[in-house]
Amino acid sequence: MSKVAIVTGGLGGLGTAMCKALMEQGRQAVAMDYNGLSQDVVDKWKADRKAEGLDIPVYLADVTSFESCAEAVKKIEAEVGPIEILVNNAGITRDAMFHKMTAEQWHAVMNTNLNSIFNMTKQVYDKMIERGWGRIVNISSVNGIKGQAGQSNYSATKSAIYGFTKSLAQECAKKGVTVNSISPGYIGTEMVRAIREDVLAKIVATIPVGRLGEPSEIARTVAFLTADDAGFVTGEDITVNGGLYFR
Ligand code: CAA
Repeated sequence: MSKVAIVTGGLGGLGTAMCKALMEQGRQAVAMDYNGLSQDVVDKWKADRKAEGLDIPVYLADVTSFESCAEAVKKIEAEVGPIEILVNNAGITRDAMFHKMTAEQWHAVMNTNLNSIFNMTKQVYDKMIERGWGRIVNISSVNGIKGQAGQSNYSATKSAIYGFTKSLAQECAKKGVTVNSISPGYIGTEMVRAIREDVLAKIVATIPVGRLGEPSEIARTVAFLTADDAGFVTGEDITVNGGLYFR
């Protein structure tokens, strides 16, 4: 039986590419996304995947709510199978210079980008440990490493992901469960295209590769970190940013 892989934010630009890459790798991807999405959006996404020959179930939940995540994961386990791979990809931006940032913008980003990681990982972790196999990949950002003016909230959550990843990786290394992160740079998704045109042009000019990244370039890294033979890679972060920032 194919191993089941949940991708949160599964219907978004990166999430869709991740679902496809996992399917190509012989996994049964499950896309989880926000329960505020309309049925039309879900149906279109599923139909688009079907047209590509991919049958990917979609489950809606609110990753900022522990109860909502618990309910969705329970359903997925009953209807699809045990969850052996989790990609914590759901994330939002509420960019503003700090002097203009509201408490609502701060907390929305904390809840969706950081608290979601607890809410989701907690649902699958114990069973991965019991089974002696699991792969957890947390999606951070180049801006969690270098910071970014206008993103004190977002960058704070993305840096926090490193601490979580490295700590949990130590706890479960002996149990066959790996925990890693990926730090994408600026990728050609809706999130990045929403940046004001003049600001984005200045950012792209600083990327040594000279272009935005492709979602498939992040998905490829997810496929690598979740592979059966990637069991010796844990507590690591892989940057995929076109040379924007080196560590
Ligand atoms: N460093 C220092 N100062 C900066 C700066 C920077 N990088 N960028 C702008 N400033 C300064 C400006 O020069 C300006 O100064 P003055 O007032 O003295 O002229 C001041 O900050 C205000 O700048 P803006 O006009 O841009 O302010 P705004 O309020 O209109 O917009 C903003 C603020 C929405 C945050 C906008 O600057 C912006 O979109 N910045 C880009 C943020 C960004 O990179 N987001 C990434 C989103 S994609 C993503 O997050 C995916 C991922 O993981 C990479």
